[in-house]
Amino acid sequence: MFFMAKGSTTTRFVCQECGAVLPKWMGQCDICKAWNSVTEEVIQKEKTKSDVPSDFFKTIAIAESDDAIRHATPFSELNRVLGGGFVGGSVVLVGGPPGIGKSTLLLQILLNKIVGIENYIYFTAEESVAQIGIRAKRIGLLNNDLKIASTNSIEQIIASTEELDEKSIVVIDSIQTISTNIIQSSSGTISQVRYCTQELVDIAKKKNIIIVIVGHVTKDGAIAGPKTLEHMVDCVLYFEGDKSYDYRILRGSKNRFGATDEIGVFSMTGTGLEEVLNPSSAFLSDHDGNSVSGVAVFSGIEGTRPILSEIQALVSHTNLSVPRRASVGFDNNRLSMLVAVISNRCRLNFFNKDVYLNIAGGLRISEPAVDMAVVASIISAYLQKSLPLHAVFFGEVSLSGEIRQSNLAYSRMKEAQKLGFQKVFCSNKTDDFGKSDINLQIIKLRSVKQIFDMIKNSSA
Ligand code: TYD
Ligand code: MG
Repeated sequence: MFFMAKGSTTTRFVCQECGAVLPKWMGQCDICKAWNSVTEEVIQKEKTKSDVPSDFFKTIAIAESDDAIRHATPFSELNRVLGGGFVGGSVVLVGGPPGIGKSTLLLQILLNKIVGIENYIYFTAEESVAQIGIRAKRIGLLNNDLKIASTNSIEQIIASTEELDEKSIVVIDSIQTISTNIIQSSSGTISQVRYCTQELVDIAKKKNIIIVIVGHVTKDGAIAGPKTLEHMVDCVLYFEGDKSYDYRILRGSKNRFGATDEIGVFSMTGTGLEEVLNPSSAFLSDHDGNSVSGVAVFSGIEGTRPILSEIQALVSHTNLSVPRRASVGFDNNRLSMLVAVISNRCRLNFFNKDVYLNIAGGLRISEPAVDMAVVASIISAYLQKSLPLHAVFFGEVSLSGEIRQSNLAYSRMKEAQKLGFQKVFCSNKTDDFGKSDINLQIIKLRSVKQIFDMIKNSSA
């Protein structure tokens, strides 16, 4: 409890789970029903008078709107996700679980030259300047223009950025560890994170500087993660991947100045992050992998770029009354659905079978076109017969067991051909495009049953 003079301050009760403001303290939030999530917060009440400057309203000339120039970074994978580079005056949120490499990525960006940027500033609240120095040495780059400050006060950060002009980039690492002294709750709470982000957004817009904010997310979303901030910033990037793999995927989930759904692929090495410029070959095992049962290659599209990936399935006997359906990198509900479709359309028993699915390399796929590769890998695992060698799959599977056509078939085939594949399995509705530079054997299938027959009757 805080006792403060009435008038200057006020208290309120805020749920740390959903952000609801409640009239009094309660053990369970009225809105989201979370337990023990309501905390008291003290807010300084300050009435400020707004005076409107004479140039309050502005007009935009068409020529001027191109002024939002792109500040390209040396990482083409990052530029791709950003839509060409950082936009002046924009706020970019980089989210991701701890230890994935957010600090490493941002430090690497700052240690290189960004087009049109002269002031490089890094605020760290998690590490000391010496620790950042160790990391910079490990990456092997030193940039004397980079200024580092170790602070957790948003007031200090705002005050020290007063002098900056539009040739500046500021990184805040991380939003969960900085706080304002206006709100008395500890750093990382929803109110603190929201307030600090709003301050940063204001300064970015006012001074036209680029601000990059790091945010941690936990798997259960227990702390105030970037989810609550997504609507406040211009661009949200997620840095994801399995820590035990080398590959790290930077995924755009919101971008006011470019396309979303683009991904950038990096790999974590002993000397920092490296770009993976040809991700298709990175996510595949060597082609001999195809002769193992339960492995199918999917020709997918991430953003505008085709990426091949390996889908691995395992079907094993179980005595559990409810057999397991577990997946890594793929939606579990969709897996259950596809197993039901196979079971029903091919008359296969799955009631005493566990089904596991894995997308190799730590990739996460949500495109429906992956269905056909998933189905093929599961049937292959079930029958313990390998799929045809050097083949890729793409096509959406409907509940009726039909295979529906997917978009961008030409790009998918082109990529498969580039990587030395010889066969492509797709929907019978796939367009016959007039382009003759595809030398693959194209096998068009109508239904899940046909995939089953194809695998069953193959010689492997
Ligand atoms: P870090 O960037 O601190 O992650 P985050 O800021 O997202 O919490 O570091 C991630 C991991 O990367 C850490 O476990 C150490 C490892 N790492 C390397 O493998 N090579 C390197 O060159 C660096 C700097 C870090
Ligand atoms: Mg970090």
